[in-house]
Amino acid sequence: MIASHAPFPITLLGFFLASVLSIEAHPFKRTILPNEIRAASPILSDYSPVLTDGTSSLPAPTGALKYITLGRGTQNYTCATAASTPVSVGAAAALFSVAQLLPAVSVSKGQAALNALPNTAIGDTITQIEQSGLPTIGQHYFTAAGVPTWNLFGDGVLYGSSVGDIPAPAGANAGPQGYGAVDWKALAGVAGSVGLTEVYRVETAGGKAPASCGGFGATIQVQYAAMYWFYD
Ligand SMILES: *[C@@H]1O[C@H](CO)[C@@H](O)[C@H](O)[C@H]1NC(C)=O
Repeated sequence: MIASHAPFPITLLGFFLASVLSIEAHPFKRTILPNEIRAASPILSDYSPVLTDGTSSLPAPTGALKYITLGRGTQNYTCATAASTPVSVGAAAALFSVAQLLPAVSVSKGQAALNALPNTAIGDTITQIEQSGLPTIGQHYFTAAGVPTWNLFGDGVLYGSSVGDIPAPAGANAGPQGYGAVDWKALAGVAGSVGLTEVYRVETAGGKAPASCGGFGATIQVQYAAMYWFYD
């Protein structure tokens, strides 16, 4: 008997993961059990993030790749007045490990799937992604002092300072609110970071601020998804 692992629900991400894994997604024909795709550890060094939008590039990482995660949450902005331009005040996102997907497919197929994940995951809620079988291994948030933070629970904490920022490529998913895809970024860990020295936010979908505040005058939460690659 196999214990109570939930099968992939019929979500965009569920279909996507099932197609990546070449496994039938239909619930009445076949369910995918998380233990089936956790059979082996991937060799992380076989994988690398795309660091260019075709015009400009992010600086290459210097450390060793430690975690590849899918982030899904909101980028937050405020408007001092209804007539001002939105200003970033932080973000909140769940970080899902994708490592267990990789041993099931070839490196080239796995790499392509990783790069495409945010485009699919933006169509699902955090709860739906949790139900798809990807484990949550951390949270992204801003400290009270406004420092972007990636907390991988027991596996490291990174307080980031930007070392590179390029626009998302033309044609990136603009997100459900249609404001556009937030920039790709490289951040280096500052004092207080533990076990992680760099993080890259790439393959963004959504998250960009609206061009103007219009009638908002308050906090704007913009849905987004991105891949976060962590180095030590
Ligand atoms: C950002 O929005 C999220 C909701 O997605 C909220 O939980 C979080 O507290 C907000 N953080 C900031 C810094 O505004």
